[in-house]
Amino acid sequence: MDTQDIDVVLHENRAFPPSQEFQDQAHISGREAYQALYQKSIDDPDTFWGEVASELHWFKKWDQVMDNSEKPFFKWFTGGKTNLCYNCVDRHLDGPNRNKAALIWEGEPGDSRVLTYFDLHREVCKFANGLKSIGVKKGDRVAIYLPMVPELAMALLTCARIGAVHSVVFAGFSADSIKDRILDMDAKFVITGDGSWRRGNPLHLKSMVDEAIEGVDCIEKVVVVKRENSNVFDCDIQEGRDLWYHNLVKDQSQNCPVEKLDSEDMLFLLYTSGTTGKPKGIMHTQGGYMVYTYLTAKYVFDLKPEDVYFCTADIGWITGHSYLAYGPLANAASCVMYEGAPNYPDNGRFWEIVEKYGATIFYTAPTAIRAFMKWGDQWPERHDLSSLRLLGTVGEPINPEAWMWYHKVIGAEQCPIVDTWWQTETGGIMLTPLPGVTPTKPGSATLPFFGVDAAVINEDGEEKQAGLLAIRKPWPSITRGVYGDPERFKETYWCNWDGKYYFPGDGAKIDDDGYFWVLGRVDDVVNVSGHRIGTAELESVYVEHPTVAESAVVGIKHEIKGQGLASFVTLREDIEGTDELKTELDELVAKKIGKFAKPEKIIFTLDLPKTRSGKIMRRLLRDIAEGRALGNVTTLADPSIVESLKGQYSED
Ligand code: WTA
Repeated sequence: MDTQDIDVVLHENRAFPPSQEFQDQAHISGREAYQALYQKSIDDPDTFWGEVASELHWFKKWDQVMDNSEKPFFKWFTGGKTNLCYNCVDRHLDGPNRNKAALIWEGEPGDSRVLTYFDLHREVCKFANGLKSIGVKKGDRVAIYLPMVPELAMALLTCARIGAVHSVVFAGFSADSIKDRILDMDAKFVITGDGSWRRGNPLHLKSMVDEAIEGVDCIEKVVVVKRENSNVFDCDIQEGRDLWYHNLVKDQSQNCPVEKLDSEDMLFLLYTSGTTGKPKGIMHTQGGYMVYTYLTAKYVFDLKPEDVYFCTADIGWITGHSYLAYGPLANAASCVMYEGAPNYPDNGRFWEIVEKYGATIFYTAPTAIRAFMKWGDQWPERHDLSSLRLLGTVGEPINPEAWMWYHKVIGAEQCPIVDTWWQTETGGIMLTPLPGVTPTKPGSATLPFFGVDAAVINEDGEEKQAGLLAIRKPWPSITRGVYGDPERFKETYWCNWDGKYYFPGDGAKIDDDGYFWVLGRVDDVVNVSGHRIGTAELESVYVEHPTVAESAVVGIKHEIKGQGLASFVTLREDIEGTDELKTELDELVAKKIGKFAKPEKIIFTLDLPKTRSGKIMRRLLRDIAEGRALGNVTTLADPSIVESLKGQYSED
């Protein structure tokens, strides 16, 4: 954690209370209402969460709200039978939501499709019957590698309906990454697409999957969604293994009974980066995840029947799972889903979409806001954004300057901003303002959500003003662990402080009003444009290259991305560090992980600065990469290294 960051937030005193008008209509209004409910959620979580769960449909009521007998493997609503797809779709068919828009999809070229809840039910049922016809069963793992087309949201719901476990792999990942995940989860099926549009160019996806599953035995069938009726995305279809989605669903019945699932049946796996070279399959289950994403979506976005909710996240990441798909759909919201780039055909595309569909709520990432800021006010100014009533951000700390721009230029100083802190592992939003309650401060995720007992502590478990973010009590959507590796779950998240706290890996500060300021990761995970990348993952890629002896990757400040990556690479003897070699290493990262993991800089070095015990001094590398003063280097095995690194960096 950076002391400079602490200084910045310590001097941020501006506060923006919600307008009276917003407060008057909000689900939760005023500090007293919040405080009373919050206290109840902490003092009596069973009653609190039991009441929330009762707002949803259960085929059989739970026996116990929370079971902590196998700490830290908490279970929620045990004995209960439910189905998340039923709650997101079928539940809305009897009544005013039947013909309401569920998904409002916009393709990058400007094509669009609106699916009502009735349509969604029909499509999901046909999809489910199609999947069953090719042998997909409850508990089977289904890897999904799809772009942002409506079938992606439908694929999630369909798997949930029949109890298959979905695992979406973001469409920016490479064939090698898909393969690693497929092998780890032992998937039997893949749902993919022939392609998608990105910044006006066709993106071919099927060939990635073909490469990924070559020689992989576990895959039985591949379902391929056709982007459009053209030959732009032509791809190979392997007889016997691959099927077109449109053929699969064509003659299927429009009705498919839902599987009555156990609350603790697995819903999905989502791989995320940690501190080792291997991404972890984070597990979430049906009941707890459903209850928590439903409630957070309702209260944090203050969802009302007439809202049009636009979340710009890709469903390939947790934000898309929880707050483009499940949470809002469980609330019968109308959700805008956009396929392409924010700057195509011009920098105003998001604002054009807001205007076109009359979006009332807009949820995006700080990295996007910083890019909009750079592109200039003229783009939003060309569009009527007066439909907006609430703004949100997620994925990384937002700098006060970007927050103020969002507030003024997009929100016209009228819209509350919810800065939501959470993670893949938490399943849902943990720290956040409630828009009808909390005066916001630029850069602060403010207060804990209901049921979240958060603290800032030091390594000894003492509460401090600045230190490590920690959470005391379990909440319904806490991950059920790392797929196939229960020990890793314990070690990573529960090892410190006698298992009393869940440790998310972030540093934070708490101010005099009890507001939380999340400052960023304190482990070796870097948040590039809100995407988690483990430095160890890149390091293990580099050493696969025959010229590389050793490497160390660190996160560095980046104006738009929040953080970027700097790779220090030591080459084998007699190998020269050329620009061609840098390109080769970049290509290797693109092949092994994906293009989005490419570092800002590769710095060749004769050796890496290490402590006497042989630990790489990452902090020092960060200081060097960011050009800061070097400080005390007396613990270095070879102090001259630092000088040479510094020299090489400034020449770079
Ligand atoms: C960071 C994304 C500051 C944090 C939902 C966390 C944030 C990691 C915020 C999780 C925020 C997310 N303020 N930092 N509002 N939201 N983060 O799993 O470091 O992709 O641990 O989940 O993003 O990233 P993940």
